Amino acid sequence: MTKTHNIHPFPRPLARNTQPPGGLRRLAVLSRKGGAGKTTLAVNLAVAAQARGLPSAVLDVDPQASASAWAEVRGATSPVVRHCPARHVERVLGEAAEDGIALALIDTAPHAEGAALTAARAADLVVIPCRPALFDLCAVTSNSHFGDLR
Ligand SMILES: Nc1ncnc2c1ncn2[C@@H]1O[C@H](COP(=O)(O)OP(=O)(O)O)[C@@H](O)[C@H]1O
Ligand SMILES: [Mg+2]
Repeated sequence: MTKTHNIHPFPRPLARNTQPPGGLRRLAVLSRKGGAGKTTLAVNLAVAAQARGLPSAVLDVDPQASASAWAEVRGATSPVVRHCPARHVERVLGEAAEDGIALALIDTAPHAEGAALTAARAADLVVIPCRPALFDLCAVTSNSHFGDLR
């Protein structure tokens, strides 16, 4: 079941159409394995980057919407979290760039191959978290194609 959460507009930390130096950086967090730490990594990287003055956003592509739920519970205005289906990722990234976001973290679902590939294609960098346990390490090799898309 897809949870629905409010779609927050991006804040306007910079004047509209003012690109941050270097433009928007896009980092996708992927893993075919659930519980690998994708959402935890995405939201914590966003908070850390925001705390260092880098306007940041999380694109929550997971239908379970864990990052969106986290944002609701947290109740802060930044980093902004937007829940969006994979087919809207490019559009939302464009809006983020226009609105002065410097770093976008794309959090994905474990069993949504198409959505994960869309996120990987939209990203400058793909991060695949893995727990240091045998089954997780065995499973991580099945993610290797995410890093070789172009
Ligand atoms: N680096 C970490 N160290 C310890 N626990 C972690 C770490 N990253 C995530 N967790 C815990 O693991 C569980 C799954 O994390 P989550 O981010 O929801 O994974 P995923 O998004 O890949 O399904 C959560 O209970 C989370 O608190
Ligand atoms: Mg998750």
